[in-house]
Amino acid sequence: MIKLEKDLQVLTTYLQAQKWLLAGEHITHFHVPGDGNMNFTLRICTPRRSFIIKQSRGYVEKYPQVAAPTDRVQREADFYKEISDHPYLTKMTPKIMGVDGINNIIAMEDLGAGKDYTFFYKNKAVIPDTELQQIMKFAAVLHNENKIQNATSPISNRAMRKLNHEHMFLYPYLEDNGLNLDTVLPGLADLAKKYKDDTALKAKIESLGNRYLEDGDTLLHGDYFPGSWLKTEEGVRIIDPEFCFYGYPEFEIGVTTAHLMLCDQPVQTILNAHKYYKEEADLDLELVKQCAGAEVLRRILGLAQLPLSIDLEKRAQLLETAREYVMNNNN
Ligand SMILES: Nc1ncnc2c1ncn2[C@@H]1O[C@H](COP(=O)(O)OP(=O)(O)OP(=O)(O)O)[C@@H](O)[C@H]1O
Ligand SMILES: [Mg+2]
Repeated sequence: MIKLEKDLQVLTTYLQAQKWLLAGEHITHFHVPGDGNMNFTLRICTPRRSFIIKQSRGYVEKYPQVAAPTDRVQREADFYKEISDHPYLTKMTPKIMGVDGINNIIAMEDLGAGKDYTFFYKNKAVIPDTELQQIMKFAAVLHNENKIQNATSPISNRAMRKLNHEHMFLYPYLEDNGLNLDTVLPGLADLAKKYKDDTALKAKIESLGNRYLEDGDTLLHGDYFPGSWLKTEEGVRIIDPEFCFYGYPEFEIGVTTAHLMLCDQPVQTILNAHKYYKEEADLDLELVKQCAGAEVLRRILGLAQLPLSIDLEKRAQLLETAREYVMNNNN
């Protein structure tokens, strides 16, 4: 298998062999287009255009000791293929230029040097309402228009779901998962103990986890958080559906809700997010809250930490709210 490198000759040879560089076209420069942990991603620039290439490998790019499904970039390509008949959804996502299934590399349209929305974890700003509207509408239309009965070959993405399941529903509750939370924020380890020891909470989390692993009837992006939302000159665009699968919509919107909470957004923004979604599609808000609770717990206590600015007191509050959300439900 070819391992791409940040090397002009390696990239040129590969892209020419794939015919992803046109005859006579050459690379003028290349660079990492933005923050990403999982994959090897580059922006390739030529005199006439730029495009993005992304390779998935059998490990997490930033943490090579952590294994990950080698072919995950193909699930990302499957997602874009699945939505390819839908003009609005394709407009909102990058066009795929090529898929190399042997080396797990895809080439796609460059949506421009926009920022993703992860800066909202850090700064105190409120996500503008027009942008929130676009984010929620994409999810609602995606869910409405992609039901499993119409799928050509339903994406199962078991391996990525298993990986996410471990990180979301198992590792945060292990007494020792290899992460000393005090290195994230002093005092966090002590705060975490209460939740790691909470048998009733863990039972609910376990059943939510089992539900996540069940197949559902709706195509989900699977990782619908600020890192997958790109702010471009043309408006919000959506990238990185490598965790996509057929599940239930409340999981997706629960995750989104959790991240709005972690971005310390006003309650009104979260209510608006649900309102914008519900203008287009149905939603069981109780189940959304349960999933949001599980995601907040996971992001504060688990291994996949975010660049959060909220202090210990706010994290303690969020953990309590998250626990209530998970517990206050008959599901
Ligand atoms: N089609 C695109 N157009 C413009 N920029 C892009 C595109 N795809 C990716 N990027 C940039 O590259 C960054 C990393 O891409 P992406 O999130 O797909 O990688 P990843 O390795 O899967 O990341 P993560 O670890 O968050 O899952 C994005 O945050 C974005 O800034
Ligand atoms: Mg990714």
